[in-house]
Amino acid sequence: MFKRLDEAQRQTQSAPVRVTVNGAELQCRQGDSVAAALFAGGVQACRDTAVNEVPRGPYCMMGVCYDCLVTIDGQANQQGCMTAVREGMKIERQLGARKVQA
Ligand code: FES
Repeated sequence: MFKRLDEAQRQTQSAPVRVTVNGAELQCRQGDSVAAALFAGGVQACRDTAVNEVPRGPYCMMGVCYDCLVTIDGQANQQGCMTAVREGMKIERQLGARKVQA
């Protein structure tokens, strides 16, 4: 299980960035990636695979594996490890394949 170091926890509490994850508020640290914020908030899986709907979570944390895909502010297939949190960001678990927009 992941948890923040004490200093990082103090930084989160002194100047929090507030996002919502599947509708629940989560306090993050300025500069956190979405993937790091999800881990710190106890969220292990951020998407389900397109074919078998198996839960997947961030793995490489450097933009290579694409296991961290989430929907951010309504935009699907966003790499959580490559996207910094910002105040008011709406993060949602991505369920299955991305919907095709006409
Ligand atoms: S965790 Fe691997 S691409 Fe984001």
